[in-house]
Amino acid sequence: MTASKPLIKVKGLSKAYQLGHGTVYALRSVDLEISSGEHIALMGPSGSGKSTLMHLLGCLDRPTEGEYFLRGNNVSQLDDASLSHIRATQIGFVFQSFNLIPQLNVYENVELPFLYHNVRGEVRKRILEAIDRVGLSHRVLHRPKELSGGEIQRVAIARALAIDPILILADEPTGNLDFKTGESILKLFQELNEQGVTLLIVTHDAFVGNHCQKIMRMQDGKIIDGNTS
Ligand SMILES: Nc1ncnc2c1ncn2[C@@H]1O[C@H](COP(=O)(O)OP(=O)(O)OP(=O)(O)O)[C@@H](O)[C@H]1O
Ligand SMILES: [Mg+2]
Repeated sequence: MTASKPLIKVKGLSKAYQLGHGTVYALRSVDLEISSGEHIALMGPSGSGKSTLMHLLGCLDRPTEGEYFLRGNNVSQLDDASLSHIRATQIGFVFQSFNLIPQLNVYENVELPFLYHNVRGEVRKRILEAIDRVGLSHRVLHRPKELSGGEIQRVAIARALAIDPILILADEPTGNLDFKTGESILKLFQELNEQGVTLLIVTHDAFVGNHCQKIMRMQDGKIIDGNTS
């Protein structure tokens, strides 16, 4: 039997920032493999490099050193247009820094990833299905200021789902939600995972971690536990 190619393979990935008083190493030579269909929690203390790693894996940023293979393709040094195409067609983001646009309603916010790239097919149907999946069909025309915190988070998830991603990256997706709403989002993630979507979820919450198949831990810019590579 031949081993299938990992969805994600990372070798010697580093990210350093030059500041006036010296260099900050956010990631230190990380090696990592994630197979298709995994459901992983990424945990670790504040400042350990979790968001930095998520940004690199999400093709939002380039490493200072090292290589990143996504489905076998080296994407570490692609230009902005190519990275943006990968993001728009393959990766669903649930990031706090990727906020909704206040002037747009729920439908229009979920539509955003489709506006930059030609997507064939029934875009409108996909958008409405994604909104329905997160239980917000009754709020389609609401603007973010007319939604609760949990509803806003669910719109972000609908936007991630609508593009039918192979990978979902979520940074503290249940961070500011009550227990019940948080649990319903974890359930939704589990369903997506059962349908073959690979999920990597940053969390400080052990309850969220226990809902994932495995927990990977970071410290000082390195993965110290749970990495199979
Ligand atoms: N743009 C930047 N310039 C300089 N240093 C940075 C920059 N971004 C991140 N860092 C530093 O890199 C380290 C890792 O940051 P990162 O945001 O990845 O941590 P984190 O694990 O996500 O933390 P938290 O749990 O608080 O979100 C931190 O020490 C941070 O101060
Ligand atoms: Mg972070």
